[in-house]
Amino acid sequence: MLIYEYKKVKIINNINSVVRGTGKYLPDFIIENKVFEKIIDTSDEWIVSHTGISERRIEQEKSNFEMMGEAAKIALKNANISPHEIDLIIASTVTADYSFPASACLVQNYIGADNAASFDVSAACAGAIFAVDLADLYIKSGRMKNVLVVSGDLMTRCVDFNDRTLCVLFGDGAGAILLSAEENTGENQRGVLASYIMSDCDGDKPMSITLRSKTTKKIFEEETKEFLGNPHNINGLMYMNGRAVYQFAVRTVTKIIDEVLKKVNMTISDVKYIVAHQANKRILDAIVDRYNLDPEKMPMNIDKYANFSSATVSVLLHELAENNKIQRGDVIILVGFGSGLVFGANIIRW
Ligand code: ACO
Repeated sequence: MLIYEYKKVKIINNINSVVRGTGKYLPDFIIENKVFEKIIDTSDEWIVSHTGISERRIEQEKSNFEMMGEAAKIALKNANISPHEIDLIIASTVTADYSFPASACLVQNYIGADNAASFDVSAACAGAIFAVDLADLYIKSGRMKNVLVVSGDLMTRCVDFNDRTLCVLFGDGAGAILLSAEENTGENQRGVLASYIMSDCDGDKPMSITLRSKTTKKIFEEETKEFLGNPHNINGLMYMNGRAVYQFAVRTVTKIIDEVLKKVNMTISDVKYIVAHQANKRILDAIVDRYNLDPEKMPMNIDKYANFSSATVSVLLHELAENNKIQRGDVIILVGFGSGLVFGANIIRW
């Protein structure tokens, strides 16, 4: 048995998990900043200068799992594999249509992936990063061959449109990344090279971005209110201490990038793109400054779509791939951070 296990470990070293396809779904309905000028005390100038956002998409009809399913179909088409070949679906979302079943099960049903297992990960805006790490581990263990990571969020359905500090920041959308096993022939290993995930849940950090559910214990409810003096912490609506999250993000994103680079003995100059969670342009600009990067290395689409949690990373990755901006052999870093507070990165050779 021990020998058998040992052999399995040897197999692990010969398997790469490569990105075989990506996809996205974005609603057609666009809301420009100037629309908010009519309903709340804000301006296009404030929103653009503080966040980099000019417009966002709002989904008016589809459920979240349907958006994820549409993104998944595109990823499968690009990967040229059928739904029957998927072994595992991992969904990441903070706006699941149901507490149960898992969103991944609904996506499985939607796309007809009849040979898959499916479950969700809950890691907020870092969800796609945590899910890619899990997919990589399943593939490298030899247990799964094709793993679909889907991410999607309907953020506009959980923000109060009278709250100017939140409603301008978010949009809706979904993305998908299909990872497949590929034999490592020894030269230039490709696919996921390493991942780094971490949570910092000290003090008031877990309560700094919340979306409370109906089942929250009354006592916890009262404590939370007292703790943060937070009038917005009501069921179904999001709360965020934006300033605290901003400072956390600027501090930790470079730390995560440093950690994941260290794991593979590379430096930032080996990296073609940092595909980062699109929460605020100023956070991304701070990373560019910190590494003295060519801004081209930090692609952004926050101006068009705003923040739709973990799917921002997979949508941006898809847009780079579909525009042939990533070539075989390029090294990219996916990086995310969010409620928890959680953060993580995957380093991938294309
Ligand atoms: N229009 C006009 N004024 C506004 C608006 C608005 N839309 N929103 C806030 N203001 C005002 C505030 O009321 C405040 O006014 P005051 O000084 O009179 O009180 C002033 O602008 C400054 O507010 P701050 O909150 O200090 O503004 P800041 O420059 O920090 O920007 C922001 C706020 C954009 C939210 C920023 O803190 C941020 O991006 N934080 C990070 C968010 C993030 O990364 N989230 C990621 C995770 S999301 C998830 O996990 C689901």
